Amino acid sequence: MSEPLVIGVESSCDETGVAIVRGRELLANEVASSVEQHVRFGGVVPEVASRAHLQAIVPALRRATQTADVDLSEIDGVAVTAGPGLMGALVVGLSAAKAIALALNKPLYGLNHLVGHVAVDLLDHGPLPERFGALLVSGGHTSLLVVDDITSQITEVGSTIDDAAGEAYDKVSRLLGMGYPGGPVIDAAAADGDPKAIRFPRGLTSRRDLEAHRFDFSFSGLKTAVSRWVETERLAGRPVPVADVSASFQEAVVDVLTAKAMDMCTHFGLDTLVLGGGVAANSRLRGLLAERADAAGVTVRRPRPGLCTDNGAMIGALGVEVVRRGRRPSSLDIGANSGL
Ligand code: KG4
Ligand code: ZN
Repeated sequence: MSEPLVIGVESSCDETGVAIVRGRELLANEVASSVEQHVRFGGVVPEVASRAHLQAIVPALRRATQTADVDLSEIDGVAVTAGPGLMGALVVGLSAAKAIALALNKPLYGLNHLVGHVAVDLLDHGPLPERFGALLVSGGHTSLLVVDDITSQITEVGSTIDDAAGEAYDKVSRLLGMGYPGGPVIDAAAADGDPKAIRFPRGLTSRRDLEAHRFDFSFSGLKTAVSRWVETERLAGRPVPVADVSASFQEAVVDVLTAKAMDMCTHFGLDTLVLGGGVAANSRLRGLLAERADAAGVTVRRPRPGLCTDNGAMIGALGVEVVRRGRRPSSLDIGANSGL
């Protein structure tokens, strides 16, 4: 059988993505972001995102088909994010995907955005082992997963009990006056700072917390600690050392993420760990995880940074797996599921 050819459509947040994937080959990956329109609000405004998707989706589809230079009548399926995400945003991508599936008489696959963040690594590093672990870190989610079958059997062994890691980056960036999204700017600012300058708390790592929350995360206490520290400096009239605060905050986030991910691998006997989600683009997370995984004899797989943030390729990559394994298509009346 030839490699499945799939269109991947993503519109769960502020990126409109349309990709065309054949097997492990990314033929086109068009991403239109509305992030500029959200900057002055300091976060994604759902209404603004929905309108932007509506304007961007058809041009993105057109560009993707031109770039891939494939005959759409040959595709094996239309893969689309069905959730989780912003309701109004999801509906735009889903409607477009349904229209394509209906017009071409091809199967539709409504897929989970978070699983897509893991599946995208297939495009960069090829087939995954039978069983593996995943650390999923995005703007809305932070989870540790044990994956037995990427299309049907995924167990969440831990998750954040409050803020997501990306959310913590965005909030700290806002309080330092560095804008939105915070991840990339803090990542850059931290490069010139000392990660040991300020000892910020590591959430859910005390002996007692580990008993009840071994694989869970908490970042809201860290955010509050950074906020208090900065406030104290400002009240004392001292300049805030942005690079040191960024580096110290980032170290607290990345230290816990990598330690718990490694602990999961040891506990469940996993020899491969896939990193996924927007925060997976973070340079320190990529570095420290590689270091600790190496020491633990675990193979860590990190998709290229450009594929970590939201895009259609991740949904296309997952769609290929779903087609390959002969999973049942979704009904054309499938709804969006913001809390999937
Ligand atoms: O996966 P994603 O694109 O969207 C969601 O599904 O949420 O993740 C977006 C998040 C934002 O919070 C952003 O600040 C964060 O990913 N992010 C980063 C970096 N690049 C994006 N966080 C840390 N370091 C980065 N380099
Ligand atoms: Zn995402």
